[in-house]
Amino acid sequence: LPPVKIALLGPGTVGSEVVRLLTQEAEDLAARVGAPLEIVGIHARDTSKDRGPHIPRELLTSDASALVAQADVVVELMGGIEPARTLILEAIAGGASVVTANKALVAAHGPELYEAADAANVDLYFEAAVAGAIPLVRPVRESLAGDHITRILGIVNGTTNYILDEMTRRGLDYDVALRQAQELGYAEADPTADVEGHDAAAKAAILASLAFHQRVALADVYCEGISAITADDVIAARETRQVIKLLAIAERTEGGVTVRVHPALVSEDHPLAGVHGAFNAVFIEAESAGGLMFYGQGAGGTPTASAVLGDIVSVARHKAIGGKGPRESNYAAHEVLPMDAA
Ligand code: NAP
Ligand code: HSE
Repeated sequence: LPPVKIALLGPGTVGSEVVRLLTQEAEDLAARVGAPLEIVGIHARDTSKDRGPHIPRELLTSDASALVAQADVVVELMGGIEPARTLILEAIAGGASVVTANKALVAAHGPELYEAADAANVDLYFEAAVAGAIPLVRPVRESLAGDHITRILGIVNGTTNYILDEMTRRGLDYDVALRQAQELGYAEADPTADVEGHDAAAKAAILASLAFHQRVALADVYCEGISAITADDVIAARETRQVIKLLAIAERTEGGVTVRVHPALVSEDHPLAGVHGAFNAVFIEAESAGGLMFYGQGAGGTPTASAVLGDIVSVARHKAIGGKGPRESNYAAHEVLPMDAA
């Protein structure tokens, strides 16, 4: 079969690891897809910048639209709303499938992107947008599609978990712990999204939309971050054998759906208290399946690249031998309850 042509947008923390793995694992990936994967170009803002040994300079281009136009699969790892949204819509209109890790974009513009992808009969996959390496989108979107999910609860932001954990276990200052999380490649380009809870809220909105088969917008999510948490709060929690965790909680009750993100006191004996560093953990309750638990690395270039690669294999396989992933454009109109009605 001819190669599946891949365009990568954004050779940053995640993107450069995706390129490294696509190159290093080329033979195995070709066998799994049924056709070779060929990187036809990499879009970056500054094409003269040295991006390390894994990004071949000759593949770098500043013309994103021209690159997207020649691809079978577009992998968007730039982040932010624009130009990511426009480029993804261009890709879909041109018949390319899309893989993205961009939770901010999927949470804000999911319906528009799903509808475009379904209309063009191409794939839109975003496993890496929620909880880094942990397979969570696919289980909720596909594996549990025959069940009724009633509750999702967990830690879905690695940066804030890292900060709270370092403050608790090593007595680090908030600012020092945040700087370390940035250096380790866990934080968003603007870490306000992490510490104010917006990143977790975007992930909660995406999971709730998929789990409850209805639109949950960012504005529907009650959101409180960790920026006001002090060393004294952490010490006070420890004195009562508790730890502070930033939790995301989405519930479907008879009255409707509620989704919220906020810091919470968790008993030291609870499994969530044992989630350290940038790890994430999510519990899902479903009527037939009962309780499920997902745990793993929630942030960082290499773990996140694993999720992106998994998506690339799936959508490239569809391009090579046929098929299409799940459709999401037929969600019901929704009624998400305000928090005071929960
Ligand atoms: P990053 O290190 O900041 O990399 C972003 C890349 O995109 C950089 O190469 C940057 O170019 C490029 N870029 C940004 N804006 C651009 C624009 N307007 N035009 C052209 N290029 C642009 O970010 P990252 O951590 O890899 O994250 C990428 C995406 O993955 C985001 O959506 C993020 O939310 C998501 N994600 C990240 C992680 C993680 O742990 N890091 C985990 C899961 C999901 P320059 O180098 O020239 O600035
Ligand atoms: N900034 C995000 C986090 C990256 O810390 O969880 C993973 O989505």
